[in-house]
Amino acid sequence: MQNFKLNRELAHLAVLQRTELLGKNLKKLRKLFGRYLFTVLFSKYFINPNKISKNYYDLMEKEFFLIKKYLKKEDIVLSIGSGIGGLEVLINKTFDTNTFFIEKNYISKKIKYGWDSENQEAYNNLNLLADFLLNNGVSQKKFSLFDFDKNDLPNIKFDVIISLYSLDYHYEFSLYKDYLKKIMKPESVLIFDTIRPEYFNGIFKNVEIIKQDLNTVHKSKRIVCRNF
Ligand SMILES: C[S@@+](CC[C@H](N)C(=O)[O-])C[C@H]1O[C@@H](n2cnc3c(N)ncnc32)[C@H](O)[C@@H]1O
Repeated sequence: MQNFKLNRELAHLAVLQRTELLGKNLKKLRKLFGRYLFTVLFSKYFINPNKISKNYYDLMEKEFFLIKKYLKKEDIVLSIGSGIGGLEVLINKTFDTNTFFIEKNYISKKIKYGWDSENQEAYNNLNLLADFLLNNGVSQKKFSLFDFDKNDLPNIKFDVIISLYSLDYHYEFSLYKDYLKKIMKPESVLIFDTIRPEYFNGIFKNVEIIKQDLNTVHKSKRIVCRNF
């Protein structure tokens, strides 16, 4: 498989979730016509779903190679803010994981792509996320979806928790701090992107930087944390 099966609606979500998938023309349209028209119109109808599928696959494959050494067969994985779930499909195929997803179930009318202190921004749809996982070969028995806003989060211990460009990138770590304490074992790994890796040295006994995005606006680093 060198690309994902995805329709226009899913390609639309992927474009909203990953700015790298925006071509020059879409970026120009966003500048010219503003964020509302960009979010509801151009990013849905002015895209080529086949091209997005290929580019999204390549992006997720790179993410997968970067973190695969932290995973092992049949791990129980939690993904916080997975987007449409391409990375989790690749993880499931290789490691036969059981994956739990915590996401939001709506699309903001004007995507801002910045720090959101109220945590009101969202760009997902849980039904589409389920369609994407099933259409790309993840068995129904191997995933469970949780809506962040329903306050009913999975209460089990996880081996690996992943939150790419979501936790402490768009919204404060503190939103999940107590919950993460409950669901992490000392050996669990938590992987996420942040602009303040040193802050986490005071929270976890072990913090490792595995990637730096220094050319982007946010200049974030990807960190792997263990042992609360
Ligand atoms: C920039 S996207 C990243 C998507 C995906 N992780 C990726 O790397 O392609 C951020 C995601 O976080 C989700 N999100 C926002 N607030 C959230 C929250 N409190 N809990 C879980 N997900 C959240 C958004 O809906 C969106 O899908």
